Amino acid sequence: MFIKKLKLKNFRNYNDIELNFNSDKILFIGKNAQGKTNLLEAVYYLSALNSFRCNSDSELIKWGENFCNINAEIKKFDIDIDLDILINPPSRKKLKVNGLNKNKSSEFISNISAVCFTVNDLLLLRGSPDDRRKWLDNAISQIFPAYIERLSKYNKIKTQKNNYLKNLKGNMTADTAMLDIWNEQLAVTGSNLIFIRLNFLYELQKIAKSKHKQISNSEDLTIFYNSSIIGDVACSEKFPFNNEYILENFKQKLEEKKQEEIIRAQSVIGAHRDDVSFYINNNDAKKYASQGQQRTVVLSLKLAELELIKEKINTNAILLLDDVLAELDDLRQNFLLDAIGNETQTIITSVDTLHFKEEYLKNVEIFEIKNSEVYKI
Ligand SMILES: Nc1ncnc2c1ncn2[C@@H]1O[C@H](COP(=O)(O)OP(=O)(O)OP(=O)(O)O)[C@@H](O)[C@H]1O
Ligand SMILES: [Mg+2]
Repeated sequence: MFIKKLKLKNFRNYNDIELNFNSDKILFIGKNAQGKTNLLEAVYYLSALNSFRCNSDSELIKWGENFCNINAEIKKFDIDIDLDILINPPSRKKLKVNGLNKNKSSEFISNISAVCFTVNDLLLLRGSPDDRRKWLDNAISQIFPAYIERLSKYNKIKTQKNNYLKNLKGNMTADTAMLDIWNEQLAVTGSNLIFIRLNFLYELQKIAKSKHKQISNSEDLTIFYNSSIIGDVACSEKFPFNNEYILENFKQKLEEKKQEEIIRAQSVIGAHRDDVSFYINNNDAKKYASQGQQRTVVLSLKLAELELIKEKINTNAILLLDDVLAELDDLRQNFLLDAIGNETQTIITSVDTLHFKEEYLKNVEIFEIKNSEVYKI
């Protein structure tokens, strides 16, 4: 798939811009704080309906304005698709595909897939469990858009349960019938999330392992899903358990933790507490891997995401690279640029063109960003 046009209104530092893309290799160059990452953020938002660097939609609106609009023309399987997002709090954001309103997020994001690789991703292993869950959830939604609604349903139930627990104020003698209802719903939606995550990681690991082997000269990568419900699961083998098994464990664990949750007034276990970890030759990469080794893991994951999307939805995702080339050494840079291939539209931001081989620059469409304006050069 390709993005042909991007129009932004009141998005971050942009007033009103329209960019037309005629190449599958796009480069945004410009000094710091000009708006390069903001452009990638807008493209990414179309594919995930969230930002890779903030959790609040209002931050995306230009200071002093009360709405922002992202509009894009995409070509997918030779069909033109017009995507439009209006963010206008406190109203719900409005999503349109070819002029038609879409109430379900999945019906919108199923039109476009993107893999984003930022400098922040390089810190994925050392970052917080929150960061890793966000990475995992967004990566899944690129392949399985309906996941986004299931996740949002789970989060709503979790919030309601937490509110209820807060209202109990630690009162162990209160009638907790309502808590049982929230727990039942949390277990049903949460076990399904865990089941989908495990299957995704199993598929992703197969590809990531082989990429990792190539880049690292034969080191062995294993991904673990660290679950508060079913323990640590190595994603190298197809799991022996099904959704039912996870559901039963979920219910049992919630029952076991009931008192603790009432005392602490928050839900302490569930899909929202799970994490992912990475092992290189059986050693926890978070603790033992060098910075370079950790980067290789992240690079392998990103390349695996791209390949898995291609395998599952039969078209190439758009690849967004925010400043990462400068952070990778020659070997990893070449691996990344070679692996992209010609059919993947790639949008790269960089301060200048120094990090690019002449050969790569030949087919690139370059835009310079200066004072919130974008110039084609
Ligand atoms: N909601 C907003 N309204 C107006 N301006 C904003 C808003 N959010 C961010 N900005 C501004 O956008 C500018 C550009 O941000 P961006 O992160 O895209 O820069 P960049 O070109 O990627 O810089 P760098 O090379 O340092 O990464 C920043 O100066 C920031 O203050
Ligand atoms: Mg930037």
